[in-house]
Amino acid sequence: MLTNLANKETAIIYARSLTRNIIGVRNSMPWPALPGELRFFREKTENSVVIMGRRTFESLGQKPLKNRVNVVVSRTLPAKITRLKMYSSRGIVYYRVHEYDQAEYSVPVYIFTSVGDVMRYIISVNGDGGQEEAGLGYADFSGKSVFFIGGVDIFRDGYPYCGRVYETLVDRKIETEKDFVSYNVHDEDGFDRDFVPLTQDKYYDEFQDVSFEVCSYLHRSCAHRDCS
Ligand SMILES: NC(=O)c1ccc[n+]([C@@H]2O[C@H](COP(=O)([O-])OP(=O)(O)OC[C@H]3O[C@@H](n4cnc5c(N)ncnc54)[C@H](OP(=O)(O)O)[C@@H]3O)[C@@H](O)[C@H]2O)c1
Repeated sequence: MLTNLANKETAIIYARSLTRNIIGVRNSMPWPALPGELRFFREKTENSVVIMGRRTFESLGQKPLKNRVNVVVSRTLPAKITRLKMYSSRGIVYYRVHEYDQAEYSVPVYIFTSVGDVMRYIISVNGDGGQEEAGLGYADFSGKSVFFIGGVDIFRDGYPYCGRVYETLVDRKIETEKDFVSYNVHDEDGFDRDFVPLTQDKYYDEFQDVSFEVCSYLHRSCAHRDCS
């Protein structure tokens, strides 16, 4: 199912604690902001499509990420938002949230009800060479890289489409025993067989006194074809 989007990449990008694989606590990040890590995330994902779950969107205060096409996967959100419009194209139902079209945000925000639907839509748009269909916001998905940015089920459902993984390991002890979520891409079936390590860069954040490491991985089959 690995996706070839006209030389663009399809990737998981995430950060976990080095021990216990914790990615979130009480619907927030488990550690205070690490500017170097946030910069890496922003530079990687800018001008791309970012796909997130409803709780991750809520953890951002329902404020979309700037300079990116934001896709929220949710079955319940469409019933809670008033300024949205439903579209049906290629047998896929999705929603465009118009409140984010205003100058304050000016960011495209879409809701799909499954990762499979988003990916079928993106693959079909790119298969057409991204020709624009008036009124559908169709061009937003054409010729762009795609990043699965969390949470757990989005990573799990997105993983089979990915040619790359960006993984940050944060060396910080997370003491909590409840209301946390954990994820480790190395637990995905066949990850250490199918992906090869590409880069490993170590950093130290002096304000938070935290070390972290950013690692990237490439799917073996991408070495032979243009999927990233
Ligand atoms: N460390 C990191 O890299 C990182 C990245 C992102 C988020 N986080 C953290 O992770 C936590 C949020 O993640 P989470 O795993 O709890 O929740 P999440 O995946 O962000 O959101 C879960 C919700 O998304 C929708 N959803 C997810 N997968 C779906 C699917 N396959 N089909 C249909 N709907 C789907 C459902 O919404 P409905 O109930 O509305 O249908 C589901 O209840 C927060 O603490 C956040 O700060 C960490």
